[in-house]
Amino acid sequence: MDERLERYVTELFAAEDETLQKIRARHGEKNLPPINVSPEEGKLLYLLLLMIQAKRVLEIGSLGGYSGVWLARALPPGGKLITIEKDPRHARIAREGFRAAGLEQRVELIEGTALEILPTVTPGFDAVFIDADKEPLPTYFDWGMRLLRTGGLLLCDNAFFHGAAVNEDDRSGNALGVRAFNKLAAGDPRLVATIIPVRDGLVVGLKTKDGA
Ligand code: SAH
Ligand code: DHB
Ligand code: MG
Repeated sequence: MDERLERYVTELFAAEDETLQKIRARHGEKNLPPINVSPEEGKLLYLLLLMIQAKRVLEIGSLGGYSGVWLARALPPGGKLITIEKDPRHARIAREGFRAAGLEQRVELIEGTALEILPTVTPGFDAVFIDADKEPLPTYFDWGMRLLRTGGLLLCDNAFFHGAAVNEDDRSGNALGVRAFNKLAAGDPRLVATIIPVRDGLVVGLKTKDGA
């Protein structure tokens, strides 16, 4: 999106409170990669979860906890966000963020690589937000579909991957993973999906049918 329009949306609709502002600022202070969702994308995730009255949500890729705070804030008391992070330093900073946001009761951060942790979580999630490494995205697609309840939302960041989605010359593992994920999401008969062109593209799919 055009930067001025993005700023317009953010200022009008996605203004951050002090907690979110601080957590975002920590990426610079702690030398975390600045690859968190933007405020407008965070607001969209928050809105999508409210729309389905999500109670149990899974995130792959916590980083500093910025998207996690948006997700967890959409949950009712007793709701739970499980977020998976492989980098111990990221995990520690994310945990601090969740504590600062007063969300430690509502968030369970599991440290480890996604492919090790995913087989250990209990299925039936209302939403799964995928935002980690891109090469295994087709495998994350399968896990997402398996772990979602019927009526649940499959969400995946970086659908455009800085344009690599439409650059067939880019044969990098990341680009191949993103393109394969998008194809799966578009073609799976159990899913009604599209890409919302927010920031780097967000795949939003509703699991309307069960089945392998
Ligand atoms: N969702 C975050 C940004 C996540 S950045 C936000 O918007 O605020 C991607 C994160 O995924 C990084 O912290 C990285 O360490 C983590 N990650 C990458 N590969 C992973 C894997 N295989 N398993 C678990 N976490 C992974
Ligand atoms: C990048 C951005 C992301 O949102 C992400 O999840 C991974 C990488 C990037 O800009 O490289
Ligand atoms: Mg991302």
